[in-house]
Amino acid sequence: MNITVFGTGYVGLVTGAALAELGHKVLCIDIDQEKISKMQQGMMPFYEPGMEDLVKRNTQKNRLDFSTNQEEGIAFGEVIFTCVGTPMQEEGSADLQYVLAVTEAVAKHAKRHKLLINKSTVPPGTAVKCAEILKQHNSPVEIVSNPEFLKQGNAIYDCMHPDKIVVGAKSEEAFAIMRRVYHGLVKTYVPFLEMDWQTAEMIKYANNSFLATKISFINEIANICTVTGADVHLVAKAIGMDYRISPKFLNAGIGYGGSCFPKDVTALVHTAASGGYQAELLQQVHETNERQKTMLVPQIISALQQVDGKQVTLWGVSFKPKTSDLRGAPGVEIIKELLDAGYNIVVYDPIALEETKRLFGDKILYSSSIENSVVNSDAIVLVTEWDEFRNVDFGKIAQQMSNKLLFDGRNIYEPEMLREEKFTYCGVGRGCVH
Ligand SMILES: NC(=O)c1ccc[n+]([C@@H]2O[C@H](COP(=O)([O-])OP(=O)(O)OC[C@H]3O[C@@H](n4cnc5c(N)ncnc54)[C@H](O)[C@@H]3O)[C@@H](O)[C@H]2O)c1
Repeated sequence: MNITVFGTGYVGLVTGAALAELGHKVLCIDIDQEKISKMQQGMMPFYEPGMEDLVKRNTQKNRLDFSTNQEEGIAFGEVIFTCVGTPMQEEGSADLQYVLAVTEAVAKHAKRHKLLINKSTVPPGTAVKCAEILKQHNSPVEIVSNPEFLKQGNAIYDCMHPDKIVVGAKSEEAFAIMRRVYHGLVKTYVPFLEMDWQTAEMIKYANNSFLATKISFINEIANICTVTGADVHLVAKAIGMDYRISPKFLNAGIGYGGSCFPKDVTALVHTAASGGYQAELLQQVHETNERQKTMLVPQIISALQQVDGKQVTLWGVSFKPKTSDLRGAPGVEIIKELLDAGYNIVVYDPIALEETKRLFGDKILYSSSIENSVVNSDAIVLVTEWDEFRNVDFGKIAQQMSNKLLFDGRNIYEPEMLREEKFTYCGVGRGCVH
């Protein structure tokens, strides 16, 4: 099947490459000329494990191509995926301008029946809006909602092994075409769920909001642990053994970031308010998370004041491991607050240093290794739980540092182990050991 994908960000590029891998012929369209030129030369616009190989393999087999020509894209695909961004607007709602622009273009230029499949995360009611645009142009195109659940850092696996395929459509023909699009997955018994547009759109928000709620819940418990002297690590381990709760997403820490959870929770709150309902629980989930991102900062400053420390090393900046994405990253907020407080900052991140430089320029120092990053530092703040931070030789690290303070923003270390190396260790919701 010929497939067009609009938008070559994390979702569009992974979707396009995965559909090519499933045997379709895919043309990816983006308005960003620089991005498209890079991909035409085999360079990736962002880091995602396995991405380069997947794109290269499918490009060489002539199943995957890139262009900025929208009309060519609209003519090419029997189905057209919309994978453009839906960023958060100032008041918290989802900005639909890119989704609606693609819909307008397809409505104007598509000459025969096609599916316009919305993979971008959009509030319930968006497919209805898109269908109205198509109707105004007497377009033969049919709208479908097909939200995406991939996780950055594991995006290719998620795309090739989804736990469900959610499809909202109005006609049997549309569901049948969608089954053909995903034939390679449906035949391996991935559940294919058929429903109306609004329900499909809502599932994506409910999915992300539930996960965000779980994170803010355990962080709330962590903060209560801090004031009561309990250890959230053990609390989470024990409650996670209850099969109704499960251990997933119960890691207390400095909060979630990324381009999805923050914006999707606030967009759902906004959508609810537009319908006259105040989604107070979800509003609080968001606020708890925003507060959590810099929860360690006063503790860091107080500890530095006690030892007259000047320099702080951050391990990791990206919002989670295996991505270079800094959108909504707690590390960015921590750097800003520590800079405001007058500290020198050294940063090491295995992948996201270039992105960090773009944000902070020469206001901070950048290091190319774990070992160099701590030279003459007074404190380490573990921000992103990259695997390479898990097996650090703290004996060696200690020798390089002026003072030995470690703030574990993701609770990945054993406090006792750090104490043996003469560190003062502070986790989130598990106190400090000296
Ligand atoms: N990133 C994730 O992990 C993830 C997971 C699931 C769902 N989503 C959702 O998928 C959507 C896309 O997210 P993303 O992270 O890939 O966004 P992104 O910002 O990385 O990429 C969006 C791309 O769309 C392009 N674009 C904008 N207007 C266009 C147009 N008219 N024609 C062609 N291209 C256009 C931009 O240039 C950009 O390259 C969002 O709604 C997001 O919420 C994201």
